[in-house]
Amino acid sequence: MAGSVLTIKDLHVSIEGKEILKGLNLEIKGGEFHAIMGPNGTGKSTLSSAIMGHPKYEVTQGSITLDGQNVLEMEVDERARAGLFLAMQYPSEISGVTNAEFLRSAINSRRGEGNEISLMKFIRQMDSKMEFLDMDPDMAQRYLNEGFSGGEKKRNEILQLMMLQPRIAILDEIDSGLDIDALKVVSKGINEMRGEDFGCLVITHYQRLLNYITPDYVHVMMQGRVVKSGGPELAHRLEAEGYDWIKQELGIEDETVGQEA
Ligand SMILES: Nc1ncnc2c1ncn2[C@@H]1O[C@H](COP(=O)(O)OP(=O)(O)OP(=O)(O)O)[C@@H](O)[C@H]1O
Ligand SMILES: [Mg+2]
Repeated sequence: MAGSVLTIKDLHVSIEGKEILKGLNLEIKGGEFHAIMGPNGTGKSTLSSAIMGHPKYEVTQGSITLDGQNVLEMEVDERARAGLFLAMQYPSEISGVTNAEFLRSAINSRRGEGNEISLMKFIRQMDSKMEFLDMDPDMAQRYLNEGFSGGEKKRNEILQLMMLQPRIAILDEIDSGLDIDALKVVSKGINEMRGEDFGCLVITHYQRLLNYITPDYVHVMMQGRVVKSGGPELAHRLEAEGYDWIKQELGIEDETVGQEA
């Protein structure tokens, strides 16, 4: 099957009545890697939460479609089954559910009744992916993210990504808190996903990650929308010069949000 297309048009999202996204446009196709960079508090995580259907994030205008289907009408689990995957900036801990149980039920809910993955096949796949990601085999039987170090959580998100094989993934600061070796391992996992059937959006603050995962497109987000797009060279310029030149170029006033960080 040809790759999927996630299309976001004129997206406006409010949290508790306050508008955070103000007309965001973005399209991610299978086979493409995109990166979003932007100052703290500009709405990057809000974008990923809105795509995944977090109930707190109210879409007041605009559309999100996956292969023409209205994502906004789908329940959270339907979105996942349709092929969307989100690695959150702060993955949540689930006590009482092991990593392996969580993954197996996530895989099976996508495959549907009567088409469940066999236990043997599941274990084989999980073992090999964990080895690929250089993860301690004990992590399979630990409760999901409970007591995982920051870097272990991020690595575990990539394990989920590789096991679930989504069509479109949004990875929010997957590089934060990673040591140098872990950054390489996580990047290796993401690169392993590359292919016509897989489109990826990485949200990051640093060019460093993009040395390993070369993006086709880099977008700058400010004040709730994408204000500039380019190729990998844009990330290099941001790393060297920060965001002021873009604000000047576009005549954007200094933001009040984001200054607390
Ligand atoms: N649940 C919430 N309740 C209230 N305000 C929120 C909530 N979630 C986000 N916000 C606000 O929305 C704005 C955008 O937040 P968001 O997390 O999307 O920023 P970000 O671009 O991901 O920043 P960072 O680079 O620091 O991760 C911020 O001002 C934040 O305080
Ligand atoms: Mg964020």
